[in-house]
Amino acid sequence: MENPLKIEGPIFIGRGWKEYLKFFNLEEHELQIINILDCAAGASSFTAYMNMKGFNVTAVDILYDQKCSFLFLKCKVHTNALMDALTPMEGHFVWSFFQDITDLKKQRLSACEDFYKDYRENQCQNYIKADLTNLPFKDNSFNLVLCLHLLFIYDHRLDYDFHINSIKEMLRVTSDEVRIYPLIKHHNKKSPFLKRVIDNLHHIEIEILKVDYEFRKGADEMMLLKKI
Ligand SMILES: C[S@@+](CC[C@H](N)C(=O)[O-])C[C@H]1O[C@@H](n2cnc3c(N)ncnc32)[C@H](O)[C@@H]1O
Repeated sequence: MENPLKIEGPIFIGRGWKEYLKFFNLEEHELQIINILDCAAGASSFTAYMNMKGFNVTAVDILYDQKCSFLFLKCKVHTNALMDALTPMEGHFVWSFFQDITDLKKQRLSACEDFYKDYRENQCQNYIKADLTNLPFKDNSFNLVLCLHLLFIYDHRLDYDFHINSIKEMLRVTSDEVRIYPLIKHHNKKSPFLKRVIDNLHHIEIEILKVDYEFRKGADEMMLLKKI
């Protein structure tokens, strides 16, 4: 059951900023003086929240040339479809961050709404349309680059070349670190691309770290890549 969804990809949904801090082992107070890039950010509320609090975050997504009303509708349709697909599979998930499907849906739609309001006002400054393999930034433009729910989890749609080229591109535009979450797909299995990526990256320090978040069972690790 690779894709129980009856919607066309790419899936455009959003996660909340609180989840982001957990996915990536981040503490707000550590982020004050750094530039962050969120790659394939979708309708997440991380950029909106962080910039509202005075941090410096830019989001990139292949769909950020679209109008805010189109993306808001897409996010709602995709979130609802996803919730319908998840309901019969409740037992496949860990219900600690979210109480239940109703709470999950509420939080996802709330992230989507925060994204919509910020995108409507700040699309030109903070939301940049780009393909992950060709980011429109100079080398070392950011201190931290995040990539959430695109690499490894969609390895049935995105091939190995896309994975390695995207990761090299994210490493090019960061001066310090890239963090990627999650590392598994369905059935708690690590993507076979993970080892290939690790074997093919040189002069980069790579760690697989536990995170204090698990919704998809077994998805409690992120990859930390540090430029040496
Ligand atoms: C499942 S969503 C994840 C959104 C967000 N990162 C999160 O975890 O909530 C995947 C996102 O990747 C974007 N995307 C797909 N292919 C891309 C590419 N080649 N370059 C940049 N973004 C891409 C989609 O538009 C979508 O917003």
